[in-house]
Amino acid sequence: MSDIAKLELEGQVYELPVITGTEGEKAVDITQLRAKTGHITMDDGYGNTGSCQSKITFIDGEKGILQYRGIPIEELAEKSSFVEAAYLLINGHLPSRTELRRFSDMLTQNENLHEDMKYQFEGFPSNAHPMAILSAMINASSCFYPGLMVNRPNPARFEVHAARLLSQVRTIASFSYRKSHGLPIIYPKPSYKYTANFLHMMFSDVYQDYELKPEVVRALDLIFLLHADHEQNCSTATVRMVASSQANLFACAAAGVCALWGPLHGGANQAVIEMLEDIHRSGDDGSKFINAAKDKNSGKRLMGFGHRVYKNYDPRAKIIKKACDQLLSTLHISDPLLDIAKKLEEAALQDSYFVERKLYPNVDFYSGIIMRALNIPTEMFTVIFAIGRMPGWIANFKEIMDDPKSRIYRPRQVYMGATQNPFIPMDERK
Ligand code: CMC
Repeated sequence: MSDIAKLELEGQVYELPVITGTEGEKAVDITQLRAKTGHITMDDGYGNTGSCQSKITFIDGEKGILQYRGIPIEELAEKSSFVEAAYLLINGHLPSRTELRRFSDMLTQNENLHEDMKYQFEGFPSNAHPMAILSAMINASSCFYPGLMVNRPNPARFEVHAARLLSQVRTIASFSYRKSHGLPIIYPKPSYKYTANFLHMMFSDVYQDYELKPEVVRALDLIFLLHADHEQNCSTATVRMVASSQANLFACAAAGVCALWGPLHGGANQAVIEMLEDIHRSGDDGSKFINAAKDKNSGKRLMGFGHRVYKNYDPRAKIIKKACDQLLSTLHISDPLLDIAKKLEEAALQDSYFVERKLYPNVDFYSGIIMRALNIPTEMFTVIFAIGRMPGWIANFKEIMDDPKSRIYRPRQVYMGATQNPFIPMDERK
């Protein structure tokens, strides 16, 4: 097959190289297009734009395949843990026993926030959204640890920065939850592993430690693992965008949190539960809502459905749905929202509107129901996504940092505004 694409433009033929990825994906390389032809490409929403070459995560949206560093998500979900998957994403290979122990120790050594950061939490109103606090506090870290401001730290320093970010994101997240509920802060326990420690900081009280049920710890660890990376989604692309200007890791991660917050991206997990609650409250069995979601004028969408890349069942949603059933049955919880979600899914998968558009449940459709079962409040759902996505952001930041040829991201536009507008003095304006 040819590795050259031919483009005929204004009577001239231009040759453009074709790049083939290791999984056979093909891309027309247009980096010289403007220089050669004076034209740029137009791709609103970047649906057809490859912004980088990456070795971290592979998705085949048609087949519903997701792999971290070549390992299928199903296998990682079954056999691995969040911390091990984080190591894999950041370092490119599964850790040996010694490497994993060292990585875990680094996470423990970096779990405490600078003590003065505690006072920063006091400044937020009690009803502040935890995503706003998370983003602000991650960015504020560079005030407390000026060493983090280095944009291209050497590998040993980078390891420490990455461990600090990965470890402290969970401390910041739980502190913001405690603050918003008027509860005293609970410090991390060095003897606890990553996810258990997060649950401890969220739910222990001053007099009694939270009971860490293995199935609860495992369910949350799985949620973190399944969110750990997803190639060039909105927030990861944002992290890379900011990293391309050589901003520091913490500034990039704070930007990632902001991009993740929106309901079309990570905020969908909160929006799904709010949607299911609305349906439940209104006494609808889901059928009225499905009709509204198909009506473009209703302002409603079936949240947790559809994906830019997946035109098949999101493999993460499959794993989460199964885990959700298992967890609720083990904990003897019966959640009416799960019944509504299942009915919605069944109805949507038979409805020509959803079938024709290839809209399937995505990762956010069932994750909220697991989080409700774990007593995580709805406004914390997207924070949980952010904690999970941190290894992916760090790995993508590292990929940019390690590439000596990386350039600043700077897309072009097609200007459609006014030309030659005169400046009208204030008194003459209407
Ligand atoms: N409910 C109803 N219609 C939908 C939905 C939905 N959830 N998603 C897409 N559509 C329709 C859309 O109206 C459009 O119809 P038409 O062709 O008639 O104009 C068609 O399907 C294509 O949709 P699109 O908005 O052009 O697709 P996109 O790739 O720009 O957006 C999406 C992808 C995920 C933002 C969108 O599917 C959506 O808004 N889903 C609900 C929000 C959600 O669950 N987001 C989480 C995504 S997965 C987690 C993550 O990675 O962030």
